[in-house]
Amino acid sequence: MLIVLLLCTNVWAGGVLEQRVAAGKRLTLDRKMGNCLACHAIDNGPFSGNTAPPLFSMKSRFPDKKKLVAQISNPLANNRDTIMPPFGLHGILTEDQIHKIVEYLYTL
Ligand code: HEC
Repeated sequence: MLIVLLLCTNVWAGGVLEQRVAAGKRLTLDRKMGNCLACHAIDNGPFSGNTAPPLFSMKSRFPDKKKLVAQISNPLANNRDTIMPPFGLHGILTEDQIHKIVEYLYTL
């Protein structure tokens, strides 16, 4: 019984994470939302910018999820002169949207 329950919870959690990753991918690539491709190369995607570092191996380069969230939410805290928009600070993206983007970036 417990095993069945654990199995179900796992499948359910997996499904939720998958949905969040898919939503994060859409937000990352959408020109009206994250538009991260304007500056970053992602997954060797076409038409990507190269004014910023390519986004790859994110989980190993940013093991602390909070740091990645902070970089997207307010990159000015790390670099006052950055051209990266402060997506959270300026309300371009909600906190939940930023977390979804991070779930997607962790798959890169
Ligand atoms: C207008 C250009 C621009 C846009 C749009 C942009 N960024 Fe950036 N980003 C930069 C620059 C430039 C840097 C380099 C660090 C700095 O300037 O402080 C950077 C750095 C980063 C870093 C740190 C990378 C590393 O390897 O250290 C992450 C993570 C990141 N950006 C994620 C994103 C995400 C996610 C989006 C979309 C929601 C995004 N950026 C949109 C310009 C941009």
